[in-house]
Amino acid sequence: MKILVTGGAGFIGSNFILYWLKKHSSDYVVNLDKLTYAGNLENLREVENNSHYKFVKGDITDRQTVDKVMSDVDIVVHFAAESHVDRSIIDASPFVKTNVEGTHVLLESALKHKIKRFHHISTDEVFGALPLNTTEKFNIKTCYNPHSPYSASKAGSDHLVRAYHTTYKLPITISNCSNNYGPYQFPEKLIPLAITNILEGKKIPIYGDGLYVRDWLYVEDHVRAIELILQKGKVGKTYLIGGLTKDISNLDLIKMIIKTMGYNPDELIEFVKDRPGHDRRYAVDWSLTQNELGWSPKYSLKRGIRETIEWYKQNNKWWKRVKSGEYKKYYTKQYKERR
Ligand code: NAD
Ligand code: DAU
Repeated sequence: MKILVTGGAGFIGSNFILYWLKKHSSDYVVNLDKLTYAGNLENLREVENNSHYKFVKGDITDRQTVDKVMSDVDIVVHFAAESHVDRSIIDASPFVKTNVEGTHVLLESALKHKIKRFHHISTDEVFGALPLNTTEKFNIKTCYNPHSPYSASKAGSDHLVRAYHTTYKLPITISNCSNNYGPYQFPEKLIPLAITNILEGKKIPIYGDGLYVRDWLYVEDHVRAIELILQKGKVGKTYLIGGLTKDISNLDLIKMIIKTMGYNPDELIEFVKDRPGHDRRYAVDWSLTQNELGWSPKYSLKRGIRETIEWYKQNNKWWKRVKSGEYKKYYTKQYKERR
């Protein structure tokens, strides 16, 4: 089988490719990635000389490139996106372009080439926000109510994917997952930002009152869920994927990380201006995915955090290089304006 992975040089896409080629060594993977600031081929060193892996540098909004790579693949796993909420607040244009237009270009090409399965990776953020101190969770019947330009663009892409199934019978599946964390995550996101700041002796910026809640999913658990959806998922269906998290506020999560790393939270936490339109709470009901596919997460938050801290400690060079480039300018500007 030949799989086209879009955005395979990013965080989740690269974890997916490494996992897939290990477990399905007779398959072929083509990775189409534009290599934006978030794309990093270093993530894929382990497979770069594997004859079953090919990298193509290209943009999913470019019809010609997409048609060329799509021409002989069996299935598509679509990760490519602009993925950071804060960046979408600064400038929504690349989000609309890549997430909406790019997905449309892929769908057209998938139809043309009679792709056997188009799997679209989406997010729980399309559902909006839940109130604090409730047991409510997002489920597949929850109405879409996105709040940020990022989540609105992801919602747009989800609707397009479903429309291509209903209208043209394109064999699609969609998964909406919660906040991933683990190896190779770009340090603009909360957990790797916190770990690498601690390793650099810097404070961790907490937005607003810090009482926001996210559902944390270890990336390997997510990748296993995608594998099962590709193998056993029903065409046209949506699967929700979440972590083994009891509600935990950002503040408590960061305190836990600081303590696990052997430091004093009082010295390393800094409250900064809140994110505009900040969603209060996310929680995901993944019971249907469990019942239908036999999937459940394996990593407790404690174990996932321990392993993630260890990975960042062992991979100093990786994140130091990432933090020294364009990201350094973004970080200085972004957090200067919040103080
Ligand atoms: P990421 O930002 O780490 O990686 C995105 C990748 O897409 C990069 O390699 C980038 O170069 C590539 N890309 C961006 N624009 C492109 C374009 N126009 N053409 C080709 N490639 C392009 O993102 P991630 O965290 O790995 O997220 C992957 C997917 O999962 C996204 O669709 C995101 O919305 C979704 N998701 C992420 C999370 C999370 O917690 N990280 C949670 C839920 C859903
Ligand atoms: O829920 C899934 C989504 O999770 C994905 O769709 C997105 O691609 C991914 O970026 C992530 O979005 P969030 O906005 O939830 O992730 P982020 O790591 O940016 O923020 C997590 C929480 O931490 C959120 O409540 C904002 C807060 N935060 C974030 C940063 C970067 C801080 O308090 N301080 C920070 O410096």
